[in-house]
Amino acid sequence: MRKPLIVGNWKMHGTQAEVSQLLGGLAVKAVADSKVEVVVCPPYLYVAAAAAQLDDSAISIGAQNLCANEEVQGAYTGEISAKMLVDAGCHYVIVGHSERREYYREDNALVAEKFLMAQRAGLCPILCVGESLQQRDSGEALSFVAEQLAAVIDQLGISVFADAVVAYEPIWAIGTGRTATPEQAQEVHEFIRDTFAERDKGVAAGLRILYGGSVKADNAKLLFAKPDIDGALVGGASLSPDGFSAIWQAVE
Ligand code: 13P
Repeated sequence: MRKPLIVGNWKMHGTQAEVSQLLGGLAVKAVADSKVEVVVCPPYLYVAAAAAQLDDSAISIGAQNLCANEEVQGAYTGEISAKMLVDAGCHYVIVGHSERREYYREDNALVAEKFLMAQRAGLCPILCVGESLQQRDSGEALSFVAEQLAAVIDQLGISVFADAVVAYEPIWAIGTGRTATPEQAQEVHEFIRDTFAERDKGVAAGLRILYGGSVKADNAKLLFAKPDIDGALVGGASLSPDGFSAIWQAVE
């Protein structure tokens, strides 16, 4: 059985005071031994404080990025290593988010490197894939997602996905208020699972595939009703305790 997973990606939001308030609000809403696993990914600067504040709660911590060059430490000014993230209390890390692919020119090869560094340090990578509106309109959504997955599978093998998460985030649905319909999302999720199943049925069956892109409390239930949607990667709505908890409660 795949345990549903709801991940909040806070992106570059919040002050120390706001983060602390948000964490306080979330901590009281999280239920121990819930049927759903809940993770928040604050900006790097707030990761350690978040881990400390959520220490006794049911919510765990992830990061939004990591260094691709080296997993422990080294002369990489401005970078944060996977081991540092573990040291600060992280269990997960997002790799290949479309914002990083677009604004920081992260290509498939770099994403595969980051995935590898994460796993070497014991972090669970959340690999993001997803097409642009233009690709969807020209019928290339599935082939583009296949290419993004193949870049990691061909480089690192299929077995690394026994301990990883995939997030399907169509770029046109991110921050736009335009969610993919449950049917559109399910089509791609099923395609992703089939892509893994062609290589390893066990890995495919255990793989959690999250949907991301304008997920809110009111569209979460229909999305989660689909057989291959195992949770969500949530941006904007994860910045409020009520909005975010309503999403994980929709799964429960
Ligand atoms: P929104 O939920 O704000 O659309 O963001 C989705 C996302 O990019 C999560 O990583």
